[in-house]
Amino acid sequence: MDRFVQHVPASVAFAAVQEHVQQCEELIFASCIVGALRREHSMDMFQMRCTECGRDHDTSRPAYACSSCGNLLEIKVDLAKARDALPKGGWKGRPIGVWRYRELLPVGAKGPVASLGEGGTPLIRCDRIAERLGLKSLWVKFDGANPTGSFKDRGMTVGITKAKELDSKVVACASTGNTSASLAAYAALSGIRCVVLIPQGKIALGKLAQAVMHGAEVVAVEGNFDQALDTVMAASDRLGMYVLNSVNPYRPEGQKTAAYEVCDQLGGVAPRYLYIPVGNGGNSAAYWKGFVEYEALGLATGRPAIRGVQAEGAAPIARMLREGLDTMVPVTDPDTVATAIRIGRPANWRKTVRAIKESKGTASTVTDEEILSAQRDLARFEGIFAEPAGAAALAGLIKDVQADNVDRRAEIVCVSTGHGLKDPDTAIAQCSKPRSIKPTVEALAALLGGA
Ligand code: F0G
Repeated sequence: MDRFVQHVPASVAFAAVQEHVQQCEELIFASCIVGALRREHSMDMFQMRCTECGRDHDTSRPAYACSSCGNLLEIKVDLAKARDALPKGGWKGRPIGVWRYRELLPVGAKGPVASLGEGGTPLIRCDRIAERLGLKSLWVKFDGANPTGSFKDRGMTVGITKAKELDSKVVACASTGNTSASLAAYAALSGIRCVVLIPQGKIALGKLAQAVMHGAEVVAVEGNFDQALDTVMAASDRLGMYVLNSVNPYRPEGQKTAAYEVCDQLGGVAPRYLYIPVGNGGNSAAYWKGFVEYEALGLATGRPAIRGVQAEGAAPIARMLREGLDTMVPVTDPDTVATAIRIGRPANWRKTVRAIKESKGTASTVTDEEILSAQRDLARFEGIFAEPAGAAALAGLIKDVQADNVDRRAEIVCVSTGHGLKDPDTAIAQCSKPRSIKPTVEALAALLGGA
């Protein structure tokens, strides 16, 4: 005790004690039951704005598209106000995760947030793969480590909190699987009826198991994801359903925190490249929004080039950029082993194309074989079990390395978006069956070659 009292002027001691108390409060706040988090500051720094014509919309009502021009809406953060709202001591003392950044999220003023403890996923240094590829510094942001096993939970904690604020009685989505699994879990947590539309026969088993287990009403649509999304959007008003696909402007707000985390985990510096799978185009745009905001707020330096990766059989955005088209031409019958990104008409294509262009990034394609090979590399060299879509980013990087299209000395992050356990069938189909033996040491030794 003497050490503190003797040598420190009263004002300094007081400031130190104040900071210590604030940090303790933050820790208590953040480590209490996650569902009880609540924020104290005002929401007037957030506007719901059309991405194309700039018209503002009423945040107290459900909205997805601009009532003037029909384009998608997004949440605009007033950065000057946001700067004032940031906690004085920074995020110090708060565990990493979506709600660490609550001052930059447009919900939570009216009551507790709906949280399962999402975000705070590991940024894993992948030295073994880096060495094989001749790269200096490769990281995987493993968002498969979220509560329901995919990055969707980042958006859903914010989206369902908004649904509660709007007093929605039914939430809904169309999904290739992960959105439905996540929505079902957060709806269950919040006691809200949940309807999910999935493309018949085309979602991975684990994702279906999650949605049904959490009590969602699962409807199989005779068609693909794009048709399921059209159906749910068209029905939302009539059936009073709040849609939580990535066209909902609150979902990307949660997802942008992954970019904040990457910067924090790299010591306040953005990577040079961010490789990310692109399906409906929501996550890549959300990451870019996060990097832009974080840099503008002075919380990180630099922004990465967004390198979007699509599966060859479902690649309308890569084609648009490759051929220099003015608009996206949908793929009518998309197909890929990475069912999560089996999407022919990405609803967020404008946002994603803008993110890629602004960041001086690229959009490339990878074959199913390249995706599966990257999935095995992650599993066998780095201990990361990703679902096929969650390995597409690495597949894109490997292709760029082979084409000498990436600076090998740069800091590179690949986003792995979903856990491998989501899709056990695709994993098992690639591997040899376990060999069986009699339960004896001799039989084991014979099998292992006397080891
Ligand atoms: N990776 C995984 C594991 C996904 O589940 C998705 C999208 C993506 C990547 C692509 O992200 O659409 O934001 O570009 N899954 C959605 C779903 C479509 O319904 O679960 P995006």
